[in-house]
Amino acid sequence: MISLPLVALALLPYALAAPQSEGYADPLHVPLTRRNRATRVANLPKIADALRVKYGYKPKNLAKRASSASIPITDEENDSSYSGVVSIGTPPQNLNLVLDTGSSDLWMATTQCTTCTPDIITFDPSKSSSFKTSASNTQIQYGSGNAQGTVSQDTVSMGGFTVSAQTLLAVNSITGNLIDDGLSGIMGLGFQTISALEVAPFWVALNSANQLSSPVMSFYFERYVDQVNEIDAAPGGVFTLGGTNTSLYTGNIEFINMPSGSTPSYWYQAVDAVTVQGTSITIPSGSSLSAIDTGTTLIGAPTAIVANIWNAVPGSQALTGQYEGMYAFPCTTDVSITISFGGTAWSISSDDMNLGTISTGSSTGPMSGAVDATSDMCVGGIFDVGSSMGSGQGVPSWIVGDTFLKNVYTVFRADPPSVGFAKLAPGLSTTGLCNSFLPS
Ligand SMILES: *[C@@H]1O[C@H](CO)[C@@H](O)[C@H](O)[C@H]1NC(C)=O
Ligand SMILES: *[C@@H]1O[C@H](CO)[C@@H](O)[C@H](O)[C@H]1NC(C)=O
Repeated sequence: MISLPLVALALLPYALAAPQSEGYADPLHVPLTRRNRATRVANLPKIADALRVKYGYKPKNLAKRASSASIPITDEENDSSYSGVVSIGTPPQNLNLVLDTGSSDLWMATTQCTTCTPDIITFDPSKSSSFKTSASNTQIQYGSGNAQGTVSQDTVSMGGFTVSAQTLLAVNSITGNLIDDGLSGIMGLGFQTISALEVAPFWVALNSANQLSSPVMSFYFERYVDQVNEIDAAPGGVFTLGGTNTSLYTGNIEFINMPSGSTPSYWYQAVDAVTVQGTSITIPSGSSLSAIDTGTTLIGAPTAIVANIWNAVPGSQALTGQYEGMYAFPCTTDVSITISFGGTAWSISSDDMNLGTISTGSSTGPMSGAVDATSDMCVGGIFDVGSSMGSGQGVPSWIVGDTFLKNVYTVFRADPPSVGFAKLAPGLSTTGLCNSFLPS
């Protein structure tokens, strides 16, 4: 069964209709993580300006040596999203935030949140002596809703690293389903250029303060999508801040610089080649720019390329209704896809390409695209991001999310701006063995 894509596609048209001044409409993020990427609202720069004057970070302990830390990740709802524990305030309040290389703002729901469900864990500003807030009520606009609150500052720590005056949004209202149950917000890990609050993201502040051994962030993601039992939240990988963790990969890390001409904002890479069932798929020039995005569940690609990908899988068909943009294929088929970014062709596990069964019997009406446990058609992990993607400066044509990233060790390197991939160490994220390595 696939409960998550239901949410996803219900949000898709809305996401595409949302005005996008910066960044991209985000059917990918939205789909399974139930949230979308921030877009800038008109008055935000002004509001943020006032605060930027005050903004500053200081390492908590100036004598602290540059270092790195391996931080456990939690896998939310069957690989739908991945979170880490972030401490905010004095004394620290621990919150689970989505780790998102596809956005650059930090926000958390607070006890003032009027629209948050009881499943959202909130931060209590009144219990933090270091919390400072402005009178500015503002919002971060998402395609699937928005997070509203006050532009604030507080001490933020993760994995032993601290930024003492991190500007963030203390959220008092969320519309739409922006985050999975049990979470509190988002930790953006992109570059400052796409920060809606126009402030240095947490990792950038650490890097500028020379707290990190090297200007890199590395990820290993566990896989649960192939497990029989439903996963609400489980140990799901390792986030290494300030370095790499050599016990999690083998061989060299293949770094590829961001495509020439791209200004770091998202973590860009050019999709150089794709194969499906051994067949090469043509990537037209101008359709290769991708954002490597830990906060996106699936892989999104341009319409024509997605059609060609599924064409190469016998018996596949485009879905309609609320699943429009997605494809189904015979469940007995192992879909075998590789993607390369200018070097190695990385294989995606067929388990990651299979999101579970769906009925394709009725193409219109209320039963359109219904989940059906007895169906022999399964939903695929690559879908059409729609025609509004891939046009305009810096707008990626592809969003390469966790469906791909579970299959590699990924290193985001700020200087020179590049992304590196390496083979996972033996035994990690291997089908059937996926829970054998659980970092404590
Ligand atoms: C997780 O995936 C498995 C295998 O596809 C499925 O049986 C299970 O229902 C899924 N759980 C959720 C929460 O979607
Ligand atoms: C690498 O990650 C593992 C698993 O979390 C952890 O036990 C180990 O300490 C980490 N190594 C380093 C050098 O941080």
